[in-house]
Amino acid sequence: MANPSLLILPGDGIGPEVMAEVRKVIDWFGTQGIAFDVEEGLIGGASYDAFGAPMTDATMERAQAVDAVLLGAVGGPKYDVLDFAVKPERGLLRIRKEMDLYANLRPAQCFDALADFSSLKRDIVAGLDIMIVRELTSGIYFGEPRGIQDDNEGGRVGINTQRYTTNEIRRVARSAFELARRRGNHVCSMEKANVMESGILWREEVQWVHDNEYPDVELSHMYADNGAMQLVRNPKQFDVIVTDNLFGDLLSDAAAMLTGSLGMLPSASLGAPMANGRPKALYEPVHGSAPDIAGQGKANPIACILSFAMALRYSFDMGDQATRLERAVEKVLADGHRTADLMGPEGGTPITTSQMGDAIVAALAG
Ligand code: IPM
Ligand code: MG
Repeated sequence: MANPSLLILPGDGIGPEVMAEVRKVIDWFGTQGIAFDVEEGLIGGASYDAFGAPMTDATMERAQAVDAVLLGAVGGPKYDVLDFAVKPERGLLRIRKEMDLYANLRPAQCFDALADFSSLKRDIVAGLDIMIVRELTSGIYFGEPRGIQDDNEGGRVGINTQRYTTNEIRRVARSAFELARRRGNHVCSMEKANVMESGILWREEVQWVHDNEYPDVELSHMYADNGAMQLVRNPKQFDVIVTDNLFGDLLSDAAAMLTGSLGMLPSASLGAPMANGRPKALYEPVHGSAPDIAGQGKANPIACILSFAMALRYSFDMGDQATRLERAVEKVLADGHRTADLMGPEGGTPITTSQMGDAIVAALAG
């Protein structure tokens, strides 16, 4: 049988640095008889610099062809002046949309060794394990009409459209219910049904999927603003949260901070099954390109490495290997290895991005 294939898109800023550490992990699995066919490409500003576009058709074709895509990060201040259509972020949005990666899984887990690093109190976050399922291919990110126009009164008007169809809501709801069955069996759906028609439809359709297909899973509904408040008040009340594209963007950043560092959180973006039965899939850290620390060996590669662990689990049916990698990360943290983002109030000397990668590979082997 052919090796599973991966397209690696390191992207911008700290993307290439953290991805280099993932390569070490992939190489280590190779020595254990679990080999991947890896190819690399450009995305974001790196692609713009080389080709004048944040994502080329040729790279898009490769992304569609492989078993899974691993992405680092896109964007940077250097590209702020670019036209909206060629900004680095457009490359990411293109790949999400064209691969139809509608279910974005963003786990927020608080590693015990890091519970004191959260801006919240230890007892609020210790043992936290929630999963945010963010709709990723529709809503206000993509809705038409959109644009900036003259308002015919001498000013301008900026327009974006929040739009969701029955099918778009139902399919992401199913992803959330499926995950909940393998976890705490509880889904909390978040929208703004009190002010938005799309929120009313969201609530009704999630309820429909529940009643008709997943009556065994517990379902609750919450307005997204209250959800944000509950996330910082008592995050452990949640198991799986399902929400739309924009609310999911905001709520997942808030959830990330509960865990102590944005440098810890992986994500998976999944679409429909391909001919080989594997879902269309893109794995990326939740953090951005962090241009302020790029190139200095300060970045934490754990989010990107844990994204590869998600690939093992969700694309390649290698749950045991995924768990092994997650345990290695846990061990390294428990042993006190810390990149700069994980330096607590007590201070200390951080290790570099590369040293963190080496420590994780050593823990895997050990
Ligand atoms: C994210 C990011 C992206 C988003 C940006 C980089 C386009 O914030 O993945 O959360 O808004 O979706
Ligand atoms: Mg975001």
